[in-house]
Amino acid sequence: MNQPVDLDVATLHPAVDDPALNSMNFLNEVAQHWPDAVSLAAGRPYEEFFDDDAPRRWLDRFRRHLADDLGQGPEQVRRTLFQYGRTKGIIHHLIARNLAVDEGIDVDPEAVVVTVGCQEAMFLVLRALRAGPADVLLAVAPTYVGLTGAARLVDLPVRPVAGGPAGVDLADLRAQARRARAEGLRPRACYVMPDFANPSGVSLDVAARRRLLDLAAEEDLLLIEDNPYGLFPAGDVDRVPTLKALDTRRRVVYLGSFAKTVLPGARVGYVLADQRVAGADGAVVPFADQLAKIKSMVTVNTSALAQAVIGGALLEHDCSLVAANVRERAAYTRNLHHLLAGLRRRFPAGSPVRWNAPAGGFFVVVTVPFPVDDALLRRSAERHGVLWTPMAHFYDDGRPVDALRLSVSAVTPDQIDLGLDRLAALVTEELARSALPAG
Ligand SMILES: Cc1ncc(COP(=O)(O)O)c(C=O)c1O
Repeated sequence: MNQPVDLDVATLHPAVDDPALNSMNFLNEVAQHWPDAVSLAAGRPYEEFFDDDAPRRWLDRFRRHLADDLGQGPEQVRRTLFQYGRTKGIIHHLIARNLAVDEGIDVDPEAVVVTVGCQEAMFLVLRALRAGPADVLLAVAPTYVGLTGAARLVDLPVRPVAGGPAGVDLADLRAQARRARAEGLRPRACYVMPDFANPSGVSLDVAARRRLLDLAAEEDLLLIEDNPYGLFPAGDVDRVPTLKALDTRRRVVYLGSFAKTVLPGARVGYVLADQRVAGADGAVVPFADQLAKIKSMVTVNTSALAQAVIGGALLEHDCSLVAANVRERAAYTRNLHHLLAGLRRRFPAGSPVRWNAPAGGFFVVVTVPFPVDDALLRRSAERHGVLWTPMAHFYDDGRPVDALRLSVSAVTPDQIDLGLDRLAALVTEELARSALPAG
């Protein structure tokens, strides 16, 4: 039936019809259509630890902090929580303390902008860096689709850099930066997730981090470090220092999220941008101040109540999210080990199915001997009752990819078993299908 149309999509910003912006909608739509399917797709935090009483307790804790530690009177406390607020946020000092305690990053709180999730932080940084049509962004591939989508919205082309087993192929990064320059373009930054990347699960070791920082200085690139999963190494191992902790030359813009470490519903994240920028009046300010100007035109300020909840959670644990996430880390470790053991059992040596074994985080990539596309995901949901994410969603070139991402974060071991049984049935079916003579 032809419905009357009021707006032609061709007259809207091209991003609205871009695969990167359709990806999340498509995955949500599949999940809603088959609500009983086991989801090994969602990169959401574990829900069993959600505590109905916690947000109120954290809000009260932050209120006491305003009064007792910052000396605000009752009227001022009310204004801080109820009114429009400081663009850069009201928990910047607690975030700076958290970065010092958990990451060994020594930072001026004025270099922090509290954002509506890490997603807004990404958008602000890309918006600021895209000054003109010559600007391009490099991004380690496969790339988080939220980054690609945000780049589309600000008309910033994204050029992939090979990730590979080490997390980033430094020779390719140098080659891509130089190729872009030879074409008259200006590579502004490289987006990288050094810890348990989404979707690859891969991490950079310390030596690779140091070499990446050196290369960024040599090639005059910024590094955009996105770190939502760094607190979740599997097992009792030491964490590797973040790029920002190793950054002595202010090359790294650091993106943080409280979605996986406190509460996704609060929608609070931040950007740490301590790069010095000379303004038109000659005054030198942190890059954070320029980002705040953009933020003032996007979300004005991050919800004070949401910040207060996160601030209270930080205060409750002396600003250590490592301490706050002991149970969560154990659950993710258990799930990751359970998934890897389950894959080994169902696809023993000789099977054409392969996977990587990340050292932590939420994600595992499974490679199969047939193309993995959206049609296969629908078939998987409909016929087998299991959801996962096609890896093609994390590449920007539209080419078929023979791999899928499994997430272990929001499921129980029993659900992992059920999901893997169903995945194995799908694989058996697809192998039989590809063995059929064409015709
Ligand atoms: C790599 C990466 N960056 C950013 C985000 C978004 O974080 P937030 O929920 O804080 O916006 C996610 C969420 O899944 C993610 O995986």
